[in-house]
Amino acid sequence: MKKEHFVSDTTQDYYSYQLENSKIKLRVSDLGGTILNLWVKSPNEKWLDVVLGYEDPKAYLQNTDTYFGGVVGRNCNRTENATFSLKGRKYNLSKNENNNNLHSGPDGFQIRLWKVTSFLEDRITFSLDSPAGDQGFPGELKVSVTYQLLADGIQIFYEGLSNEETIFNFTNHSYFNLNGHQSGDVLQHQLQLLADFYTPVKDAASIPSGEILSVEGTPFDFRESKSIGKDLFSNHVQLQYTGGYDHNFVLRQEEEQPFVVAKGDHSNITMKAYTNLPGVQFYSGNFLKNEAGKEGTIYRQHNGLCLETQFFPNAINTPSFTSPILPKDIKKSFWTSYRFE
Ligand code: GAL
Repeated sequence: MKKEHFVSDTTQDYYSYQLENSKIKLRVSDLGGTILNLWVKSPNEKWLDVVLGYEDPKAYLQNTDTYFGGVVGRNCNRTENATFSLKGRKYNLSKNENNNNLHSGPDGFQIRLWKVTSFLEDRITFSLDSPAGDQGFPGELKVSVTYQLLADGIQIFYEGLSNEETIFNFTNHSYFNLNGHQSGDVLQHQLQLLADFYTPVKDAASIPSGEILSVEGTPFDFRESKSIGKDLFSNHVQLQYTGGYDHNFVLRQEEEQPFVVAKGDHSNITMKAYTNLPGVQFYSGNFLKNEAGKEGTIYRQHNGLCLETQFFPNAINTPSFTSPILPKDIKKSFWTSYRFE
């Protein structure tokens, strides 16, 4: 366990923290609770950093475009018309993508200073007190995010408590490349996504239509492992809207079973992910464009894949989707783990 200065802005200093064991090294920052590096011991005993990230620490101060590795909250993904109602009151968020809200707006939690409330050999907790009205959301929210090192991976716990009913929908926005972050596109990664249904979007603005459709016979059927690139360029209208995969999949909610098994075709590193959340946004890095990445790497389209566990996009405005509401004075927690073989 190691703490180092990471970056400073005009008012504060941010630090990085490293946790490690014989198979995994995790480096995170109190700037956004961000995962900066995740090194995995590869089958040939070399350490491979399997997440994308910026070369320049200062870029994380403005991480509102790629969201590399950041903790996204209070509500990840999209809210239609940037508005919702709770208990008969209307709340407005900022319109930072078309007419909609994406990832809670320009003052996202991925660019905030989090407080380190516990730092142990194999675990670190970041906490944040978000005042009522923050980003437009009701309720004073106390939130914490804990990264726990596992023998073969990491587990992320999100815990929230609010003094008013509010939305609690956090994710981590890491981009994985299981061949190593600098290895180019992930189109030949093998991906198995154990989801029978997905939530199609209305149009290119990516708000779900509210339907829950079967993946059967579509490019969204990853129930048998296939390469990410196999159907990505098909002319399916859903892929045309989003320029590749950028959709929410409905998870089977079998917490003991992985919802994803992904394999790097060069490294032979396999990642299995587990969660107790109802959905995952599988995003194939469609908007990545000449990002100045770690070790001088230039990241291009499809150089990483995100598996953002979440309540479904725009769930607050979609009665048929599981509610992302956190009741008043009741603590809730969610978790996601990523394990490597
Ligand atoms: C994803 C979102 C994408 C894109 C990305 C950040 O969660 O679904 O459309 O906005 O974040 O660049």
